[in-house]
Amino acid sequence: MIIAANLKTNLTRHDTALYIEEVDKCAKQSKQEVLVFPAISSLDSFETKVEVGTQNAYPTVKGAFTGEIGLEQLEEFSIKTILIGHSERRHVLGETQEFIAQKFHYFKEQGFKIVYCVGEPKEKREAGKDATLEYISAQYEGIDTNYENLIIAYEPVWAIGTGLTPTLEDIQEIHTQLKQKSPAPLLYGGSVKVNNIKDVLRVKNVDGVLVGSAALYAEHFCTMIAYADELQLKEK
Ligand code: PGA
Repeated sequence: MIIAANLKTNLTRHDTALYIEEVDKCAKQSKQEVLVFPAISSLDSFETKVEVGTQNAYPTVKGAFTGEIGLEQLEEFSIKTILIGHSERRHVLGETQEFIAQKFHYFKEQGFKIVYCVGEPKEKREAGKDATLEYISAQYEGIDTNYENLIIAYEPVWAIGTGLTPTLEDIQEIHTQLKQKSPAPLLYGGSVKVNNIKDVLRVKNVDGVLVGSAALYAEHFCTMIAYADELQLKEK
């Protein structure tokens, strides 16, 4: 399974290094693929089993894009993993599907592992299943769903950072539909915590999780990694 942490705009460079060191100890004892996305200012050349990716980058080698980073800055630290289409970039920073697809194409050409996020806002969920699926489908526009280095994360916007989660049946239903759109591993994200991760990971067509706030403490994130191992052992 893939167990990923999105640290967002949290932890200093110093604290991130300690965090990654701690999580790496757990990852080394685990069979899971562990990814961590720290703040851009905390990127570095980590020689770890934990795969460190960037939360964002501009589709360019370098240039006049104030506040952004490009390929040159990522290559300095051998970063080859990127999060694209996260709901905070779509809805807070206003990234359009067209721009997101452009980013996707650029980093695909560079061979990056791409964790691509999709998910509906509350009003679409309330409008019903068809409206929800239609909204999510539009987020697949311009995306190569067969890209071999692609991981998709389904993250309902209303479940991110709110403590609310869809029912397990709803997660299963959406994941089953989304699996028809792409053979890529499909993660669930949105208020995953130590006390619900086991249930979420047991859902059919859930290949892992993308965790935000509950992953901010290395100890908690390590517990989640260990739970994923336990579940896999039981399944065998
Ligand atoms: P959350 O965030 O776990 O805090 O809900 C998930 C995410 O935004 O990736």
